[in-house]
Amino acid sequence: MPEPPLLAVKDVASTVRGHTIFSNASFTVNEGDIIALRARSGAGKSTLLKCLSHLGLYQGTVLFRGKTPKAIGVPTFRTLVTYVPQRPSLLPGTPRDLVRQLGTFRARASSSENSELDFARMLGVARKWGLDDALWDRPWNQVSGGEAQRIALAIGFGCNTAEVLLLDEPTSALDTGSALTVEETMVNEVKRPGATLKAIVWITHSDEQAVRVATRYLKLTANGIQEESSVSPSRLSMVGNGNGHSDLHSERPVH
Ligand SMILES: Nc1ncnc2c1ncn2[C@@H]1O[C@H](COP(=O)(O)OP(=O)(O)OP(=O)(O)O)[C@@H](O)[C@H]1O
Ligand SMILES: [Mg+2]
Repeated sequence: MPEPPLLAVKDVASTVRGHTIFSNASFTVNEGDIIALRARSGAGKSTLLKCLSHLGLYQGTVLFRGKTPKAIGVPTFRTLVTYVPQRPSLLPGTPRDLVRQLGTFRARASSSENSELDFARMLGVARKWGLDDALWDRPWNQVSGGEAQRIALAIGFGCNTAEVLLLDEPTSALDTGSALTVEETMVNEVKRPGATLKAIVWITHSDEQAVRVATRYLKLTANGIQEESSVSPSRLSMVGNGNGHSDLHSERPVH
């Protein structure tokens, strides 16, 4: 029997106060995938990623290596399929408080891990991304948007438990140079033999970023997920063939 995919998402739907945000979202994530998830603002991208990490209510199924979050245990599931939020500046306390809290969750999920080692990894990657150590002890609402994004990502990366990272517009507040450095770290980690991290689902509004980092492109609509074979060159360059369509661009639903 073939091995189950890293993540199997089947007929996932999310309803908030009687309003269906999206339904029939079905796709798989395999080892080595970096999936650019794209859609208009408000389409439900953040909501979908929270469902995948079992942080929100949803209908349908999400399986990690063929197992439900319940079978794995929800806290452990979230350490394997980890959501990095879009707006970390809304979090209470300081980044170091969050690290402590995650250390407690992690100790509950697995008694053999050492959260001190994680912090060294977080610090290391944060420094590489140009962040001052002092930021770890400053309240989230007093660090800049771009600093908060990189710290949140350094925490998700540094925990080193996730096989699938769910990144919610991780570089939207960064200048191009900083974004490129972050992209390089993340892409190299997925490619590194023996790394814990096996795949990323990466929300982005930047077609250029999607082309730089992604191995696959998914589009979320109200009726589900479509796999795109490429990001439309006409949208990318804003020149295209003049009619907004390109022969190089095709879409197909994912089953
Ligand atoms: N807790 C909530 N209560 C009510 N409505 C919500 C809630 N969370 C999200 N929504 C609504 O669900 C829809 C999808 O929101 P979501 O944040 O997932 O969109 P998104 O695709 O990530 O958008 P963006 O690109 O702007 O980040 C939006 O219309 C939003 O207002
Ligand atoms: Mg969002």
